[in-house]
Amino acid sequence: CGIVGYIGGREATEVVLNGLQRLEYRGYDSAGIAIYHPDAGLQLRRSVGKLINLQQRVQADPPRGRVGIGHTRWATHGGVTEQNAHPHRDASGTIVVIQNGIVENYLSLKGRLIELGYQFESQTDTEVIAKLIGHYYQEQRDLVAATRQALQELRGGNAVVAFCIHEPDTLVAARLGNAGGIAIGLGDNEQFIASDIPAILDYTRNLIFLEDHDIAVVRRDEVTITRLDGTPVTRAVHSIAWDPVAAAKGDYRHFMHKEIDEQPRALMDVLRGRIDQERGLITLEDLRLDDQDLRRVRRIYAIACGTAWHAALVAKFMIENLARVRVEVDYASEFRYRQPILQSNGERDALILTFTQSGETVDTLAGMEEARRQGVPSVAIVNAIGSQAARLADGGPIYLHAGPEIGVASTKAFTSMLVAGYLFALRLAQAHGTLTPAQIREHIQALVELPGKAAQVIEQVTPVCVELAERYYRVGNALFLGRQINYPIALEGALKLKEISYIHAEGYPAGEMKHGPIALIDEGMPVVCIATRDHIYEKMISNVEQVRARHGQVIAIGHEGDELLAAKANHFIGVPATLPLLQPVLNVIPLQIFAYHVAVLRGCDVDQPRNLAKSVTVE
Ligand code: G6P
Repeated sequence: CGIVGYIGGREATEVVLNGLQRLEYRGYDSAGIAIYHPDAGLQLRRSVGKLINLQQRVQADPPRGRVGIGHTRWATHGGVTEQNAHPHRDASGTIVVIQNGIVENYLSLKGRLIELGYQFESQTDTEVIAKLIGHYYQEQRDLVAATRQALQELRGGNAVVAFCIHEPDTLVAARLGNAGGIAIGLGDNEQFIASDIPAILDYTRNLIFLEDHDIAVVRRDEVTITRLDGTPVTRAVHSIAWDPVAAAKGDYRHFMHKEIDEQPRALMDVLRGRIDQERGLITLEDLRLDDQDLRRVRRIYAIACGTAWHAALVAKFMIENLARVRVEVDYASEFRYRQPILQSNGERDALILTFTQSGETVDTLAGMEEARRQGVPSVAIVNAIGSQAARLADGGPIYLHAGPEIGVASTKAFTSMLVAGYLFALRLAQAHGTLTPAQIREHIQALVELPGKAAQVIEQVTPVCVELAERYYRVGNALFLGRQINYPIALEGALKLKEISYIHAEGYPAGEMKHGPIALIDEGMPVVCIATRDHIYEKMISNVEQVRARHGQVIAIGHEGDELLAAKANHFIGVPATLPLLQPVLNVIPLQIFAYHVAVLRGCDVDQPRNLAKSVTVE
């Protein structure tokens, strides 16, 4: 999950290990390096567990050389073993590859390579990339050309770095999609590569960021970037500030914008180590409840505040639908004072499920304490490692691993919570036997494709969201409508807009509109209608018509290519389709982007809206 590369005059081992250490905060379960020296050859060291294990191995037998790559892995495909740790090699053992991301079609690529006679040492998707590059290298004898050809066959978002001993003066780095970034640090007769800038800030402040489909040839004295199809491009060199907070913001004006863009990666990080696609299994290891404990759970009380409460509302649909376990959702501030009846007559079948980004929200913690008083176990879906909620959750925290969220308006933590909720629902379904491994495998495939689809949404909808923001940023009111699992998304869209732009916005279940909000609709009122195709689609279409009949301005979120909806709405925002229970993850992204641009146009303090706090530790 962390990538570091070096080429220059220093001992590469030191630079690479130091970089990996700086990325420890991102979480990992194994690590490895490959260093090359003309006399010593390619020296691979890998080990599972903490970086200290790798460091000890390196100390016992230090690799020499002025070029090398390193990686900290956080498992997606394949368990935590030394064989699965990166770097991975091609069949000839002359090419090494490290990767961040998910190869969505790795099973079919692997099948093809096995038919061609290739053998695999690991269960990872990265080894597939290494073998594929090696395969084309046999024909091309050119690492860039071989990498280019291999990458054209991958589906998904990836950041890849490759090295070949026959071209010892070159590192090749590429970025596909928006799920994994690559920064190239420019030095004096030396260059650095990193997935995250803290890895190389000790050495340089001048950075180039690769864009989607860029491939870079990195040599000691020059960096050349082309598109994957070979067209040359120039990318600006950014000077990064010394202040660590400003540095973390990189090239962005606001953290919120950065965090919106980080979602594809966050959606991948929340899956790491938790899915076994080949066996159709969910392995939520941080959960301290086993199958037997989970089978006992017949009702769940989900409690949270703010955006996290919206995540809980969405999770209710996921859990009830997949695991057939009843879920009641409460605002934590209400729950704690309503003397909730959690356990009746000794049935130990209840569970508290909290959602909290910070893990410090006082009302949410109070709800957890109430549960503890009543002897009900709790599980916390939480982002901040080691936070109060994580410690209070005796059933275990389920960490989001979304990284720090600085913008007060939650974005990446929200979509990560939805996926964590989904994983929990699948885990529960697995224990209750409501889904077969084959069915779980299909859900896992949809999860694996989600980061790529999120990246696609960000890219596709941004221009139309900017246009809509320009058109509507002066309005005083807005309405957001959705039904079923997309009703909480309507609430979240409204909350995003109101909290950062101070426009009054309301989210409503579309079917309830006729009982009140319809009175507000006139030609000045934008009404966002979430109408991706599902079992309630036709009802949403009727609601769109009702709004139009009152001259409201309909902004419709629908599946791309939905011409019927596009024709009925004033404005149409198309998103890719996924399973209906996962669709909210994609549907909310345009609402975040719209709110962001409206707030920017209104000159608001996007990251720190007035009167709001990131974590609310008072009542
Ligand atoms: C505050 C923040 C919101 C957040 C809510 C819950 O109100 O401004 O963005 O959704 O607290 O926070 P939590 O950390 O528990 O998710």
